[in-house]
Amino acid sequence: MRFAPSILAADLADLASALQVCESADADFIHFDVMDGHFVPNLTFGAPVARALAQRTSIPLDVHLMVSDPRSMLDDYLDAGCARIAVHWEAAVHLDGLLTHIRNADARAGVAINPATPVEALSAVLPIVDFVVLMSVNPGFGGQPFIERSIAKVARLHQLIERAGHEVEIEVDGGVDTPNIAALSRAGAATFVVGSAFFGSSDPVTKAAELRRAVAEAS
Ligand code: DX5
Ligand code: ZN
Repeated sequence: MRFAPSILAADLADLASALQVCESADADFIHFDVMDGHFVPNLTFGAPVARALAQRTSIPLDVHLMVSDPRSMLDDYLDAGCARIAVHWEAAVHLDGLLTHIRNADARAGVAINPATPVEALSAVLPIVDFVVLMSVNPGFGGQPFIERSIAKVARLHQLIERAGHEVEIEVDGGVDTPNIAALSRAGAATFVVGSAFFGSSDPVTKAAELRRAVAEAS
């Protein structure tokens, strides 16, 4: 399992401490939610903040672009040293080109899909994608309740990937916590974005261990 704390749920006035907590918890990635106030009704961080974080930690940044025009800002995040970048299927008119661009820059290319977007929409890009961010809440805010039918959706996506014979990692984002992480893992998810359940915990390091244990016991 790969554990990706979402920095959106941290104390935004103290991101350096948030990075230390992620390091203590052996995080595999730092999930970085970019919102443009247009694709989603919220504004968060930009590439200068991503660059500053990438310079402070050796944990790879996992950028989730919730923006209407991903092409216009892709190079900024690639230049900032982000290891993984996901664009939304619903926002990317020229998805094939964007994914190829990310890969050509030696980063890992991801596609994020909203809860209402069927996994079958991904069929054509599976050969050129490294990971799928399957949203288990509607994007825009942290701390929302997990959409239960996402578990069945992960299973369908996993089946689609297996049948096509591709190596594509499934990342789940939104409301992930102890009650759902084992089922998500059994359904085929490999990477888990955890925001409020991690940073909102009184003991995030113990929380991360609890989540890892739940996944280990599920397999
Ligand atoms: C939602 C973001 C998520 C969010 C996850 O739009 O994409 O990454 O930060 O946070 P929790 O775990 O609180 O749902
Ligand atoms: Zn996200």
